[in-house]
Amino acid sequence: MKSDLPKLLLDIKDGVIDLGWGHPSARLHPLQKIKQSTLSMLSYDHAESLQYGASQGYGPFIETLARFLSQQKGYSKNKVFSNQLFITSGASQAIDFICTLLTVAGDSVLVENPTYFVVEGMLNTHKLNVIGVNCNENGLDLDDLEHKLKSGLKPKFLYTIPTFHNPTGTTMPSQNRQRLVSLANKYNFHIVADEVYQFIYFNEPPPTSLLDYDTQGKVISLGSFSKILAPGLRLGWIYSNPQLIKTFTDSPLAFSGGGLNHFTSTIVNELIGMNLLESHIHELQHEYLRRATVMDNSLKQYFDNSIEYIFPKGGYYFWIKFIEKLNTSNFLDKAEELGVSFRPGNFFTHTSDYDNFLRLTYTLYEPYDLVEGVKRLSKVFSK
Ligand SMILES: Cc1ncc(COP(=O)(O)O)c(C=O)c1O
Repeated sequence: MKSDLPKLLLDIKDGVIDLGWGHPSARLHPLQKIKQSTLSMLSYDHAESLQYGASQGYGPFIETLARFLSQQKGYSKNKVFSNQLFITSGASQAIDFICTLLTVAGDSVLVENPTYFVVEGMLNTHKLNVIGVNCNENGLDLDDLEHKLKSGLKPKFLYTIPTFHNPTGTTMPSQNRQRLVSLANKYNFHIVADEVYQFIYFNEPPPTSLLDYDTQGKVISLGSFSKILAPGLRLGWIYSNPQLIKTFTDSPLAFSGGGLNHFTSTIVNELIGMNLLESHIHELQHEYLRRATVMDNSLKQYFDNSIEYIFPKGGYYFWIKFIEKLNTSNFLDKAEELGVSFRPGNFFTHTSDYDNFLRLTYTLYEPYDLVEGVKRLSKVFSK
């Protein structure tokens, strides 16, 4: 039966090339791999996948995931153990879950300024007092953070995107990771490290997960299959110290529902066991670098010297600064009239610091659309 209700989150007007959505390419969705692993899993005929699962997540999947993560040079220098993993239904759910379990209304929490724009709404839902910390070319500005902490701020946690930041694309260097963890130890707060882009690197792996730098059980790392397999699976993991994993496992939500995404876990367990994940990640890395290069060339061709940006080393985004003082959000309507869209800089902050920035995504569209989109965008900003 036909329905008028939306099918997808993506909502793009006809004829518009929307370079704003941070979604993966539909063409690259691993339909055949999911089909193959689902059929294989269902062929076991023991219906385990249809029962309530274990609170921490499906045991065989946790073991498989621990092995897989241990083998990835871009993830951790240390062996990942199964008592350090908790299965979630994605990083978004994990953030909300952490707020539920580790905070009470009125607590202060820190976020990067700018940050992933949906996070602030989630934190507000929990009535938390959200405070921004400045960013620079190395991600979080640790001097600003230290200054705030020295002034008496007592955050429950800091939410950070240390690798291929959304929206700025920056990656926190190793020495900064060490200093951040020292500050968390000294001032006693957790670090929620949203590492959903950790595997989407182009030439070289980024510094490993922030958990590698943890010395006193402060780091809670969030992983997700949304960027490396498919967001529709709603599957992710928390990688942290065994005590916190136990806190998550003992939660009434995980117990009542029998894990947070049991059925899908049994499929992805099979998919990893069939060796289908690593090759898929390589395909994404290769294709997204190709698309980022196409976007880079078009930006150079159509914008000349009017903008500045750093070519991304991974992730999904170009964070573009207009040299001229202008407010990019004032150009959205005109952009849509000319058949293109983007995310204005002030979507990602409460301050006016990024009014003359915008975020473009290169993952959703094929190269020829990226070229056309950037060409249209240049017309929007031409005098
Ligand atoms: C930084 C960041 N965290 C989380 C998410 C959403 O992750 P998930 O699909 O695992 O909930 C996104 C999606 O764009 C993101 O950019």
